[in-house]
Amino acid sequence: MKHFLELASVPTGELRDLLEFALQLKAEWKAGGNKPVLQGKTLGMIFLKPSLRTRVSFEMAMKHLGGGAIMLGPQEIGLGVRESIPDVARVLSGYVDGIMARVFDHADVAQLAQYSSVPVINGLSDGYHPCQALGDMLTIHEHFGALDGLRLAFVGDGNNVAASVALACAHFGVSFSIATPEGYEMQRPVREQAFGIAGRNGSVLEMGTRPQVAVSKADVVYTDTWVSMGQEAEAAERVGEFEAYQVNDELLRHANPNAIVMHCLPAHRGDEITDAVMDGAQSKVFQQAENRMHAQKAILARLLS
Ligand code: CP
Ligand code: NVA
Repeated sequence: MKHFLELASVPTGELRDLLEFALQLKAEWKAGGNKPVLQGKTLGMIFLKPSLRTRVSFEMAMKHLGGGAIMLGPQEIGLGVRESIPDVARVLSGYVDGIMARVFDHADVAQLAQYSSVPVINGLSDGYHPCQALGDMLTIHEHFGALDGLRLAFVGDGNNVAASVALACAHFGVSFSIATPEGYEMQRPVREQAFGIAGRNGSVLEMGTRPQVAVSKADVVYTDTWVSMGQEAEAAERVGEFEAYQVNDELLRHANPNAIVMHCLPAHRGDEITDAVMDGAQSKVFQQAENRMHAQKAILARLLS
C-alpha cells in the first residue's frame, strides 16, 4: 500500500492489520504517549473544503508520533488553478514526507498520487472518505469487541461516506444495509466493488429505499448530512427529498435494542439526526470523532515511516 485513496483497492488483510495497529497505537497513547516513529517527518495537508475533524486529527496525529504538519488551505496553493495538479505533486514531494488532500473531484486526489513520489492520503473527496471509515471500524470494534457478523444500517445519502463505510464493512465482514431516496443510491462501481469484497468475507450488502427495513436488526445505525460540501445550491431540494430519512427515536425502535448510533459529523441537528438521538445513550458520535485521530496514526505510521 503506497497511498490511501479509497478502500476497494486495499487488500482485506492489510486493512485488518491497520485496524489492529490503530488499536495498539490508541492503547499506547492512552498509556502515556506514542513512540516518535515519525520524528522529523512532515505531512502537507491540502484542503479545498472546510474541516474540523480531519484537519485537527491529522495534525495532532503527526505531533503525537513526533512529526509535524503544514496546512495548505484553499486560498494558498490554488491546486489545479494557480498550478497544475501534477506540478503541485512534484514540488510538494520535494519538501514533505506525505500529502493529505481534501478535494472535490476524486480524480484530483488520484492525480496527486499519480505524480507524487511521497504517499498521498485522501482526506475526503466527493467519491470517498476512507479515513473516516477506518476510524468508524475502530469505534464499532471497541464497542462490540469484534466486527465479523455485525449489521450496519446506513440511512441517508449514498455518497462519499456511505461508499467508504460500505467498503469497510465488506472488508471486515459486517453486513451493510442502506436506505436512500431514489436517485441518491451509491454509485454502481462502488456497489460492485462492495458486493465483490463482501462476498469474499461472508457479509451481505443490501440496498433499498425504506429506512425501517434497512435498520431492522441493525447493530449500528449510521447517518450523514443530506447536503454535502459543494451541494449547497441543492440544499432546499435535498432537505425535501430526505425528510423521511431522519434518524430519530421512532426509527431507532426498529433496530436492535443495543444498537449504537454513528454520524461522521458535522451534524445538522433536526435534519438527518435529532438532538435526542445524537445526545442519547446509544450515540457514539464523539468517540467516533476522536477515533479519527487514532486510526489515522496507523495510516500515517504505515505510509510515512
Ligand atoms: N467527518 C469529517 O471528516 O469531519 P470534518 O469535515 O470536520 O473534517
Ligand atoms: N458527506 C459529507 C461528509 C463530511 C465529513 C460531505 O461530503 O460534506
